[in-house]
Amino acid sequence: MSIDLRGGDWLDDNLANWNERVGVHVASEFYDRAALRAGGGVLDPIVKAAIERLYPDGLEGVRVLHLQCHFGSDTLSLANLGATVVGIDFSSAAVAEARRMADELGVAHRARFIEANVYDARHMLPEPESFDLVFTTWGTIGWLPDVAEWARIVSWFVKPGGRFYFADGHPAALVFDGDAGSGGLPSFAYPYANEAPDVLDDPSDYADAGVALVNARTWEWTHPLGEVFDALRGAGLAVESFAEHYRVPWRIFPAAVDLGDGMYGWPAERWLPLSYELVASPNTRTAATGS
Ligand SMILES: C[S@@+](CC[C@H](N)C(=O)[O-])C[C@H]1O[C@@H](n2cnc3c(N)ncnc32)[C@H](O)[C@@H]1O
Repeated sequence: MSIDLRGGDWLDDNLANWNERVGVHVASEFYDRAALRAGGGVLDPIVKAAIERLYPDGLEGVRVLHLQCHFGSDTLSLANLGATVVGIDFSSAAVAEARRMADELGVAHRARFIEANVYDARHMLPEPESFDLVFTTWGTIGWLPDVAEWARIVSWFVKPGGRFYFADGHPAALVFDGDAGSGGLPSFAYPYANEAPDVLDDPSDYADAGVALVNARTWEWTHPLGEVFDALRGAGLAVESFAEHYRVPWRIFPAAVDLGDGMYGWPAERWLPLSYELVASPNTRTAATGS
């Protein structure tokens, strides 16, 4: 299925949905920003450990591009650690709140936010090979139709010697419908690999069980691991490290167990990984076409 990456119903519907979610999320406990306001951060344990592993000397002087940054809580957590950050998100509401929060925290001189569809990022931020770290985490590529093009964009921004850090829900776990199933366990609902989008009409929101979104229609894609790896390789990025985890920083289905540190896991057996993370770096620039 060919899809216009720069416009169309998929983009309009998803944008309306995300613009509406911003107010809900800002008011939610899920996105509590007390730690950020206290000068710390809200990075989940998986991402926090990765940043500490990758930058044992800290983030001072490190230039970070955060793709699909939402309203900037993780972006500003990295800024609080000393990084100079640019966040990109297509939601005007998210970007407005991220800018407001950067001002509130007094880090606006090191935190810039740009309103753009990921697929327009190169035009909106014409700074090729200029980031030490491109950072993308949790709930991102499922909103994107084309991961090969996404990977070319990521690669275009990474400096030689720089890195891409990515963490997301595991596609093996995204086949479940959390609300269905028996014995508290979820049941199969979505195919692992499906070129066509799942066009859903779901007014619920993961950050607030009480809300009913008006802009409920979304277009979502499950991208198998092989597709992500092929996309990165095709864009000239070599995967340096890859890990699967049995926990994820949101209640992925009702039976998931609260692990007490903001993470959720399986009730008993580790049936399937729930999330994964990887680090990739440029190996050759020749494969990244950069249009
Ligand atoms: C689940 S949130 C990511 C949250 C992220 N983990 C964070 O740092 O808070 C998904 C984000 O992707 C953004 N998004 C979805 N489709 C997009 C697109 N085509 N271009 C840019 N941003 C997009 C949404 O506006 C939303 O902020």
